[in-house]
Amino acid sequence: MNAGEVPLDALLPRRDAGERVPPGWYVACASREVRGRPFPLLVAGQPLVLFRDGAGCIAALEDRCAHRNAPLSAGCVREGRLSCPYHGWEYDGDGRVVHIPAAVAGAHAGLRIPSHPVRESQGFVWLWLGDGTPSMPGPPLFPHLGDRGWTSFTLHTRFTGRVEDCLENFLDCPHATFVHRYWFRAPTGKPVRAVVRTRDDGVEAEFFEEPRERSLVWWSLAPAQGAMRHVDRFIAPAASRVDYEFPGGLHYIITSHCTPVDARETQVTTVISFRSRWPGWLVRLFFEPLSRRIIRQDVDMLRLQAGNIARFGGPRFHGIPADLLRAGIVAWRRALAEGTPPPAAGSERHADLHL
Ligand code: FES
Ligand SMILES: [Fe+2]
Repeated sequence: MNAGEVPLDALLPRRDAGERVPPGWYVACASREVRGRPFPLLVAGQPLVLFRDGAGCIAALEDRCAHRNAPLSAGCVREGRLSCPYHGWEYDGDGRVVHIPAAVAGAHAGLRIPSHPVRESQGFVWLWLGDGTPSMPGPPLFPHLGDRGWTSFTLHTRFTGRVEDCLENFLDCPHATFVHRYWFRAPTGKPVRAVVRTRDDGVEAEFFEEPRERSLVWWSLAPAQGAMRHVDRFIAPAASRVDYEFPGGLHYIITSHCTPVDARETQVTTVISFRSRWPGWLVRLFFEPLSRRIIRQDVDMLRLQAGNIARFGGPRFHGIPADLLRAGIVAWRRALAEGTPPPAAGSERHADLHL
């Protein structure tokens, strides 16, 4: 370890002290990852196991056998049932014990382990986290994924940091002139106007007179002239969406869904979709490695931030008006977790910042 590097494993707790996850649909993994074998997963500090049941539907169970606590993910799937590696107890997709090899008939009546509702959508597996039946019928859609005239690619990124810190980072312009200097933005000191609006599903910021100088991204992917429409949006409980739209139909959308792994890490699924006059493969050839490079810069920064928060035993945040969306993100997520009303839609505030 380099001098000054923070030993995160020693500092950061894996378990949350009873913090509630805001209820919602969360990305578990890509559909293709769940095949014939049990697929282990840690979500919000809970060890889970995914498998495909007899109908080919994905089920998510607690990764702990009701009998002697063996991890079910170390077992196998037999005719659509999850079989424990220790004594062979078998579970259906709802977590019910349906067969005990050593027992006489009826010994397992009513035995069940916790399960989560699961949906597959657009090639991703989504889990419902929260008590009872889902209050939202299905997971949200990644915009324009698979649509005609649009090209998309997906990035799976593990961040050291909590969901709020990731969301704030994805929706924060000022950090880009430092963390992504010349890659994505360069400091110009120019005044930029922003409008922050509350919505019925979160909060958004729209930017006006935004500079586009000395940046590899804007030099290569955006026309030099003409107005750009840029909106950053938090969508509760754990998603960000960034739109850049130009005259003539050019449009980039970056959507990220955050899944808490535990108290120290967040798994982020990002879909970048674009409509452009260039062939999709050509833009992807350039844009995909560039996006990975820029996301790595954020991963490194959030790791430093999380390490320092741990070093001081907790955070001490000080917000300014240019921190446009953090307050809304925190207020929404806290309300959902506590079951209280979220911020009302329809309010608007203006903010000035320099980029
Ligand atoms: S521990 Fe799973 S069957 Fe015994
Ligand atoms: Fe960033």
